[in-house]
Amino acid sequence: MSTDAPPKLTITALADLTRRGERITSVTAYDYPSGRLADEAGIDIVLVGDSAAMTVLGYDSTLPISVEEMLTFTGAVVRAVRRAVVVADMPFGSFQVSDASAVGNAVRFAREGGADAVKIEGAGPSVARARAIVDAGIPVMGHIGLTPQSVTKLGGYRAQGRTADAAHQLVQDAKSLEAAGCFAIVLEAMPAIVAAHITDAVDVPTIGIGAGPSCSGQVLVWHDLLGLSPGRVPKFVKEYAHLRDDIRSALGRYAADVRAGEFPTAEHTYPMAEDERVRFEQRRDAVPAASKGHR
Ligand code: KIV
Repeated sequence: MSTDAPPKLTITALADLTRRGERITSVTAYDYPSGRLADEAGIDIVLVGDSAAMTVLGYDSTLPISVEEMLTFTGAVVRAVRRAVVVADMPFGSFQVSDASAVGNAVRFAREGGADAVKIEGAGPSVARARAIVDAGIPVMGHIGLTPQSVTKLGGYRAQGRTADAAHQLVQDAKSLEAAGCFAIVLEAMPAIVAAHITDAVDVPTIGIGAGPSCSGQVLVWHDLLGLSPGRVPKFVKEYAHLRDDIRSALGRYAADVRAGEFPTAEHTYPMAEDERVRFEQRRDAVPAASKGHR
């Protein structure tokens, strides 16, 4: 490792940021280049989200992605990141069945994937799962509000906690996850006032996505943030670049250059020493040229 590697951020350091009133930054990443860029940009938490199912694998929900696929993405991001805390999202089915299988799968993300922590969605039965994984020595990030793995039960991708009862339940859920030992909690798609109340009610950092400005930190999906998502992005997204346009334009210019014979030029090709070229041409001229035509 190079000597100028930045010191690795710890879970405790994240809590310190919150205690000092400094906001935590987070973005998803799914491969080596995205992990590397996020880390170089000084992002604090790189989340290997199961949103990879949609953004990278093209499914229309997060449900189909497997532990094996998530392990591949996690390993690539872990190899890229030097400073940030890497959190692996546990996919649908990997923690719902029992505490034992949740712990077994979390161990895989820590040992095989190299993740610093895992994230699980929901409260209710997820609280016991979180406690079991924390007891096994693996830090857990909670996730409440819009939890995409429960999209069918929630009736679609819509904001949660919009009635007094539902908002109150979210506060209770956050407290339960904190009591279970979660080191941070993602608050997704809920009124800002509810997220602000939760952030006041717990001591652990809250990481908002569509939850307003009062959270301890913010997370966005890589493809949304960079303008790589096809179609409409959720209301809470701010696009900081339009890479789809940039990439499409670059690919179009490349294709045009190839078709016009303008790429590659001499600067993109390997030279040959003059004496070797002459010897090569002489030998080539001595053998009959192979037929290039169609049979
Ligand atoms: O999978 C994901 O990208 C997430 C974030 C939206 C928090 O869970």
